[in-house]
Amino acid sequence: MRIRTLMLALLVSVPPMALALAQSSQEPISRGENLPRLGEIMLAKQWRHIKLWYAGKAHNWNLAAYELAQIKASLTQAAILYSGIPVSDVLILDAPIQSIDKAIQSKDNASFVKAFNDLTNGCNACHRKMGREFIEIKLPAELPFSNQLFTPPAKQ
Ligand code: HEC
Repeated sequence: MRIRTLMLALLVSVPPMALALAQSSQEPISRGENLPRLGEIMLAKQWRHIKLWYAGKAHNWNLAAYELAQIKASLTQAAILYSGIPVSDVLILDAPIQSIDKAIQSKDNASFVKAFNDLTNGCNACHRKMGREFIEIKLPAELPFSNQLFTPPAKQ
C-alpha cells in the first residue's frame, strides 16, 4: 500500500523523472514478498515498447500516449523498488520519453520515430552500464499481438 501510494504520488504530482528522489536511499523502500522482480518489470516494458511502436506507426496517438504512460510507470516502479539502479541510469530515458510525449501531442510521425529510436538506445545504454549488455533491445519488426487492434477507432 505504501509503495502504491508513493508511486501514485510520483506519477501524479512530480515530473516523471524526479525519480532521483526515490533513488536517494540505497535501501529498498519495502521488502514485501509480493515485489515484482526487476526482470518481470522489464518484460512488461518490453511488451509496451512493442505496443508503443505499433500504436505510433498506426497513428493511434491515444494508444501511444497510454503505452508511454505505462512505460513511465514501470520505470518509476523499477526505480522505487530497486534502489540499486543508479539515478543517472534511470534518467537516461528522461529526454526520449519527453520527446515521444511531444511527438504524440503534435501527432508528428517523424519525430515519433526519431524519439523512439532514442528511447531504444536509452534502454540499451542502461543495460550496458549495468552489465546487461547481452540484453539488446531493437526496433520491433513484427507485431506479436493478434488480438488487439492498433489502428485508431473509427470516428463516432
Ligand atoms: C535504469 C536501467 C534500465 C533501463 C533504463 C532499462 N532497463 Fe531493461 N533491464 C535493466 C536491468 C538491470 C535488467 C536485468 C534485470 C535482472 O537482472 O533481473 C534489465 C532487463 C531487461 C530485460 C530482460 C527481461 C527478461 O527477463 O528477459 C528486458 C527485455 C528489458 N530489460 C527491456 C528494457 C526496455 C525495453 C527498456 C527501455 C524501454 C529497458 N529495459 C530499460 C535495466 C534497465
